[in-house]
Amino acid sequence: MTLLDQAAAIRDRAYAPYSGFQVGAAIRAESGAVYTGVNVENAAYPQGTCAEAGAIAAMVLAGDRRIAEVAVIADATVPVAPCGGCRQKIMEFAGPDVRVTMANLQGARVTMTMAELLPGAFLPEHMG
Ligand code: THU
Repeated sequence: MTLLDQAAAIRDRAYAPYSGFQVGAAIRAESGAVYTGVNVENAAYPQGTCAEAGAIAAMVLAGDRRIAEVAVIADATVPVAPCGGCRQKIMEFAGPDVRVTMANLQGARVTMTMAELLPGAFLPEHMG
């Protein structure tokens, strides 16, 4: 099963009653382990969390710290792109060459690197 297949397989566990937009994300860590996440919305709308954030939390909980690859999928007209906040969250644990595959249910696919998705990123090493 590809990383994207794994993101697709858990997408329907998303809790998205407000937007109706269910997202699945999968992260492969450098260790080889795969972590998945879905978006979890809230009646207080800004409190919702993205699928990517859920997958990152699972990765950190398991003790992994470096991301090797990311896949995101939703029922969207075009391949779903991580939001700006998630680009920053992913970059904390990913190098610029990490590839992010974005997909929709119709089979459209786009793959970009983190450097393309978040040029000029603020990085942990900038903290000194
Ligand atoms: N969302 C994600 O979970 N990941 C993305 O990459 C894009 C957006 C979620 C947030 C919210 O629950 C819903 O999709 C609509 O924005």
